[in-house]
Amino acid sequence: MNKMRIAIFASGTGSNAVRLIEHFKEHKSIEVALVLSNKIDAKVLQSAKERGVEVVYKSNEFVSNGQEMTDLMHQFRIDWIVLAGYLRLIPSELVVNFDHKIINVHPSLLPKYGGKGMFGHHVHEAVIQAKEKESGITIHFVNAQFDDGAILAQFRCHVDEKDTAETLYSNKIQYLEHNYFPIVVEKTILNPNYV
Ligand code: GRF
Repeated sequence: MNKMRIAIFASGTGSNAVRLIEHFKEHKSIEVALVLSNKIDAKVLQSAKERGVEVVYKSNEFVSNGQEMTDLMHQFRIDWIVLAGYLRLIPSELVVNFDHKIINVHPSLLPKYGGKGMFGHHVHEAVIQAKEKESGITIHFVNAQFDDGAILAQFRCHVDEKDTAETLYSNKIQYLEHNYFPIVVEKTILNPNYV
């Protein structure tokens, strides 16, 4: 049986991409077939290559073109797209062609602290500033707006008075992402009606 083939899109470090690659390494029916980045020097490209995954760099102009992106995904026989720290909007043509086949992780409890400009440390700084008592992560389908598609799962953590944006991210949010994102991706692919 042919395995389901995932393309991961990532713009930065790629710690979540690495967790996904490791999670699916020996999987019976799912494989990470490609890592795409819009940043030529993104650490994720090196980390994926070291783990034997094909990588491609594409310019911001290319990744904004829905037809080119669709053709590229077909060329690599991609079934599912997973965004892991990917900072570009997905062009609407790609969303249409991969309807309910694109999954993102966002480091807050959406709809709070989502949308344009809400990425990375900006999210955690806003959570701390607002004196929130809890934060967490949201795993959701992707549509043509930032952080807006149907929610698949959310996982929560407590925010202490002593937390800074940095401790919240590195002690709590990253833990949730690394431990739950691969499992939810797997469950969603194996059973798209999951949730
Ligand atoms: C994660 O916090 C993810 O939720 C957000 O960007 C960050 C990416 O981290 N979308 P990494 O590159 O996977 O380490």
